[in-house]
Amino acid sequence: MPEAPRAAVTVPYVRTRKRRDGATALVMVTAYDTPTARIVDAAGVDIILVGDSVADNVLGHDDTLQVTMADMVHHTAAVARARPRALVVGDLPWLSYHLDVSETVRNGAALVRAGASAVKLEGGRARLPMVEALLGAEIPVMGHLGLTPQSVHAMGGYRVQGRADAEAASLLDDASALAGAGCFAIVVEGVPASLGAAVAERVDVPVIGIGAGPGCDGQVLVFHDLVGLNERSPRFARRYAELAEVIGAAVGAYAEDVRSGRFPAEGESYH
Ligand code: KIV
Repeated sequence: MPEAPRAAVTVPYVRTRKRRDGATALVMVTAYDTPTARIVDAAGVDIILVGDSVADNVLGHDDTLQVTMADMVHHTAAVARARPRALVVGDLPWLSYHLDVSETVRNGAALVRAGASAVKLEGGRARLPMVEALLGAEIPVMGHLGLTPQSVHAMGGYRVQGRADAEAASLLDDASALAGAGCFAIVVEGVPASLGAAVAERVDVPVIGIGAGPGCDGQVLVFHDLVGLNERSPRFARRYAELAEVIGAAVGAYAEDVRSGRFPAEGESYH
């Protein structure tokens, strides 16, 4: 018997997924193109994040600050063409939501028109006017706190955040403010595990961790780290495959076959 199609993951469904209420952990992964979105959707993830991490994982930039709205629209549309059952969240890139609220809403709408059901932005209380404006335009918002890569220069590098008590307290207040404003979920990145768990305890919306310990309501990883396409992965990431090696071996075998005349064979030729 063919399997019944799985229901589409929606924003209201994600909002209810607190582990303390008995929910299983949410699974989020990045994807930046159609075939990858198809693969991760078929694997059953809940949320596909079209992250601005496309910058360093796909486009060869050193940081996410180089990514533009045009890049994010392009990659969000590619992911949406896979018609995933998973919720598609589009990342608002640096400077697309920092200048004024109208521009923020226009940029959020561009990601929705490209196929995202929600947008993600980095930062806490300073972003509340932008979060409220997006929500006012019916665009669901996912927050992102802690080690926020768009703040790399302000942070002085990619450093674990919230180690000091005052920093941790401020992050907890940011999380309360984002949840209070109506964010349906919050990513917390690069913080001590105890703080990840404390944020999940503090707010009523799911907290999705990356390098934030096991006490969150879900986890997110960058696809290229998870499958071993990057040379090195951060300490918090687990490599479930070594695809760079697999791909390298496949292409090497192809090159050998071409050079030795073994490819194409009779069955791979038209007559
Ligand atoms: O862009 C991204 O991949 C992200 C995740 C690290 C959460 O924001």
